[in-house]
Formats: sequence, structure tokens, C-alpha cells
Amino acid sequence: MEMKKIAIVTGASSGMGQWFARTASEYVEFDELWIIARRSDRLARLASEMPSVTVRCISLDLTDRGSVSSLHPLLDEAGAEVVLLVNAAGFGKFQAVADVPQETADGMLALNCGALMDMCYTCLPYMHRGARVLNIASVAAFQPVPYITEYAATKAFVLSFSRGLWKELRPAGITVTALCPYWTRTEFFDVAGCSSGKDRVTYFNAMYEPEDVVRRGWRDLLRGRDVSTFGFIARAQVLLVKLLPHRLIMKIWCGQQKIGG
Ligand SMILES: NC(=O)c1ccc[n+]([C@@H]2O[C@H](COP(=O)([O-])OP(=O)(O)OC[C@H]3O[C@@H](n4cnc5c(N)ncnc54)[C@H](OP(=O)(O)O)[C@@H]3O)[C@@H](O)[C@H]2O)c1
Repeated sequence: MEMKKIAIVTGASSGMGQWFARTASEYVEFDELWIIARRSDRLARLASEMPSVTVRCISLDLTDRGSVSSLHPLLDEAGAEVVLLVNAAGFGKFQAVADVPQETADGMLALNCGALMDMCYTCLPYMHRGARVLNIASVAAFQPVPYITEYAATKAFVLSFSRGLWKELRPAGITVTALCPYWTRTEFFDVAGCSSGKDRVTYFNAMYEPEDVVRRGWRDLLRGRDVSTFGFIARAQVLLVKLLPHRLIMKIWCGQQKIGG
């Protein structure tokens, strides 16, 4: 059977994942684009926007730990060579750990870390020299961030996992890029906020556009960079966080958010 080149994007129903899916054919050569998220109507709409691309919409709840394994038979049936994997599905909460229901926290860990890792495990056996992985972490990955504490911790995992994998896969000619966006205008904020007035993160000192962050992501992915950040503020913050003690960084952050203590 002839090998089919497959590009896969999770979190493709909105935000940065949607931009990665929409622009994938400009940057990477493939036969089919597989787009994954829960909202199948959104995926279908995105597919209809790209008539020249063969798109397969796969509706999965990636917080369900077994969900990723359903891709194995699809990859086998397709005789797949995975040339691109973008892990963009993820969410956070702008609340104190004590205010985030444990079920939500479990889902965050399952999606941001578990599903991302499962996607890598699932796709790597189908990847060859020249394949690319891009995992969306965050600038929050570089420091502890009170009141999005768990989210920042999940992103620290994504950053560390991606960088380790970058090194391990270099001899095989497969690159892994951790995209670390600053605040970016997407539905992330609708999901992170809550209606009960318990949001503690309310001040956003800069807001980037998803298409710009994604464009930088593509550039750095094609250069085989291990880490990609976009924007002066993002870069300055990453540098400062390396130089200053984390306690001071957390104090500054809480001050910006007008949270005492
Ligand atoms: N926006 C920011 O300021 C920012 C900054 C740094 C990092 N990030 C990270 O960037 C990535 C993309 O987020 P975004 O900003 O583009 O937010 P977004 O617009 O809310 O997109 C999140 C995507 O994840 C998918 N998703 C959520 N839960 C899912 C589940 N259980 N199963 C499958 N898919 C699921 C959503 O699709 P469905 O709801 O249809 O399932 C959606 O497509 C995330 O990892 C986020 O943590 C965002």
C-alpha cells in the first residue's frame, strides 16, 4: 500500500490550533490533514473553508485517556506517514487552586499533559526523518504562576517534555518545537474565566493575535528550533524569569493582578 503523508492538528476547532490547521498546507507537504477537537461542527466548517485540502475531521474528547488510542487503527488503515503533529488542545483556569473543582483540574492535567504525551507516543512510530512536532506550551511554563497555578505547572511539563524529546529525536532527524505564547486573543479566555466572580487573573498587559504567534511558530518549526516565543514582552519576560528569583517574579505577578499577600 502506498504511504499517505498525514498532518495532524489537535485543538483545531478554535484559536491557535485552528490557525495551524488553516495554514498547514502553506508550510508542510502532506496528502491529508487530520483535525481533532470535540466540536465536530467547527471542524466541519474549517474543512469546508479549505476545498483544496483533503481534511479528515476527528471528533475526540482528549481528556478521555483512551481516546488517543482510537487513532492507531486509522493510522494503520491509511498506511500513514505522519509528517506533522501539532498539539494545540489545552485549557487553563484563572482561579485559586482551592476554587478549581478537582474534576476540572484532573481534566486540565489529562488534556494539557496526558493527551499531548499520548499523541506523541501514538504518532512517533509513524514518523520518519524530516517529520515535525509542535507542542503548545506557554510563557507560563518558565515560572510558577499563582492563580493559574496548575495550568502553569502543566505547561512546565510540556516545555520540559518537548525539549527533552527535541534532543532525543535529533539523530532521527525529527524536530520538536515548544511554542510558548504570551497572552493571545483566542477562546482560551472564555474557558479560563468563570461566571461566579472567582477569577483572580484579570489584568493582561499585552495581547497578541493568534495568526502572528502561529506564523512565528511555523518559522521556528521549520528551523528546527526547540523553543519558540513571539513578541518583545514575551521574550523579555522569559529572560527576566531566568535572572530573578521566582518568589520575586510571583510577587510582581500578584501585584499586577492586584492580589495581596
Ligand atoms: N490564548 C492564550 O493566551 C494562550 C497563551 C499561552 C498558551 N496557550 C495555549 O495554546 C493552546 C491553544 O489554545 P488557544 O489559546 O488557541 O485556546 P482555544 O481557542 O480555547 O483553543 C483550545 C482548543 O482545545 C480544544 N480542546 C479543549 N478541550 C478539549 C478536549 N477535551 N478534547 C479535545 N480538544 C479539546 C478546543 O476544542 P473543543 O472545545 O472543540 O474540544 C479548542 O480547539 C492551548 O494549549 C493553550 O493552553 C494559550
